[in-house]
Amino acid sequence: MKEIQKIAVMGAGDMGHGIVQTALMSGYKVAMRDIEQKFVDRGVAGIKDSLEKFFVAKQKITPQQRDEMLSRLTTTTEIKEAVKDADLVIEAVPEVMDIKKSVFKDLDKFAPKHTILATNTSNMSVTDIAAATKRPDKVVGMHFFNPAVRMKLVEIIKGQKTSEETMKAAYDVALKMSKVPVRVEKDSPSFIYNRVNAPTMLLLELIQEKNIASPEEVDAAFKPFMPMAPYELMDFVGIDIAYHSLKYLHDRLSPDYSSSALEKKVNAKELGKKTGKGFYDWSAGRPTIDTSKATTKVTPNDFIALQVNEATKLLMEGVAKSAADIDSAMINGGGGIGPFQVGQTIGYAEIAKTCEALAARFNVSVFKPTTMLKEGKIPA
Ligand code: 3HC
Repeated sequence: MKEIQKIAVMGAGDMGHGIVQTALMSGYKVAMRDIEQKFVDRGVAGIKDSLEKFFVAKQKITPQQRDEMLSRLTTTTEIKEAVKDADLVIEAVPEVMDIKKSVFKDLDKFAPKHTILATNTSNMSVTDIAAATKRPDKVVGMHFFNPAVRMKLVEIIKGQKTSEETMKAAYDVALKMSKVPVRVEKDSPSFIYNRVNAPTMLLLELIQEKNIASPEEVDAAFKPFMPMAPYELMDFVGIDIAYHSLKYLHDRLSPDYSSSALEKKVNAKELGKKTGKGFYDWSAGRPTIDTSKATTKVTPNDFIALQVNEATKLLMEGVAKSAADIDSAMINGGGGIGPFQVGQTIGYAEIAKTCEALAARFNVSVFKPTTMLKEGKIPA
C-alpha cells in the first residue's frame, strides 16, 4: 500500500473545510473541491478564521506554522483536478444518496488506481456508495464529528466489500491526525455515535410534535450536564442534517422515526447556526440558555436510558466490537458520556424500566428495552 501523502476533500462546507484543516494541521498536502468558487472561497475563509481564532491567537501555533500549513492547500471546482494525484479522497458532500453516488462514480473515474475513497456520511450505507465504483474494496467510511478540528472521534466503517488493508490505512490516517478512530465492523444505518443518539433524536422530535416542552425548557434541564444542550447542538450541527438522518432511519431502521416537526423548520429554512435561526436566534452568536426554565417532563436520565438501550442493539448486531468501543465513540464524538460506564452506575434494571415507560408513553417500539438490557448481561 502506497503511503498516504496527499488527501483530496470533496465539499468545502462545515465538515469539508474542517477535515481539510485537520489534514493540513497533520502534515498532509490537501486539495479542496466544491462545485462553485464561492463555496470554495467560503471554505478557505473558514479555515483561515479557525487557524487564527483557535490556534494563532491562543499561541498554539506560530504565524509561520500557519503559513506553512496553508502553503500545502490547493483548491479547485474540478473533481478531476482535485483527485489526479491524491492517495486518499474524503467525500463530504450533502447527505443525498444520488449526489454521493454520482460523486463516487467520478472519483472512481478520475482518481489513480491505488487511491482510497472515503465517505464522511453520517448515516448512509458505505456498501451502497461503494457500488457506484469499480473498487468497492478501496471504499471506506471515515466519519468525522463537528467541529472536525476539535472532536476526536473518527468512525472507520467497513462496507461489505471493504478490504482489511483499506480499513487499516484509513485507521492509520485518523491516528496521524491525532484522532481516536473506532472501527465500525458492520455497515449499519448511522453506525455507532449517531445510532446510539438516534432514539434521543426521535424523542426530541416527538417532544416538539406533541408540544411537551419548548426547546429552551428542555435545553435548560440538560445544560448543566453537557457542553451543548440537545436543541442547541441540533442548531449547531444543522437541523437539515438531523432531519435527513431521521428520514433515513425511518426508511432503513423503523417507521417509528418521524420527522414532521423538523421538516417544518427545514421548509422555513430555519436550519440553525448556518442560517442564523433555528430553534434559537444565532445572529448575535451562541444562544444563552436560561437554566431556570428547566422542564421536568423529560429528564437527562430518559436520554441516557435510550442511549444505553440502543447501544446494546449495536453489540447484539455486531456493529461495534465491544462496550468499551461504544463508550469511547460516545465520549470522543461529542464530549458526552460513555453509556455503559454510566449505565453500570444507574443499574440496567432501572434503565430497562425507564425505556419501558418511554415506549408506552410515546407508543414507540424502538424505545422498548432489549433482552440484553433486561437481563443486564453486557459483554465487556
Ligand atoms: N475548532 C477548534 N477548536 C475549537 C472550536 C473549533 N470550531 N470551537 C471551540 N474550540 C476549542 C476552543 O479553542 C477551546 O480550546 P482550549 O480549551 O484549548 O482553549 C475549547 O474548544 C473550548 O471552547 P469554548 O470555551 O469556546 O466553548 P465550549 O467549551 O462550549 O466548546 C465545543 C466548544 C468544543 C464545540 C463544545 O461545545 C462541544 O464539545 N460541543 C459538542 C459538539 C458535539 O457534540 N459534536 C458532535 C455533533 S454530532 C456530529 O457531528 C455527527 C454528524 O454526523 C452530524
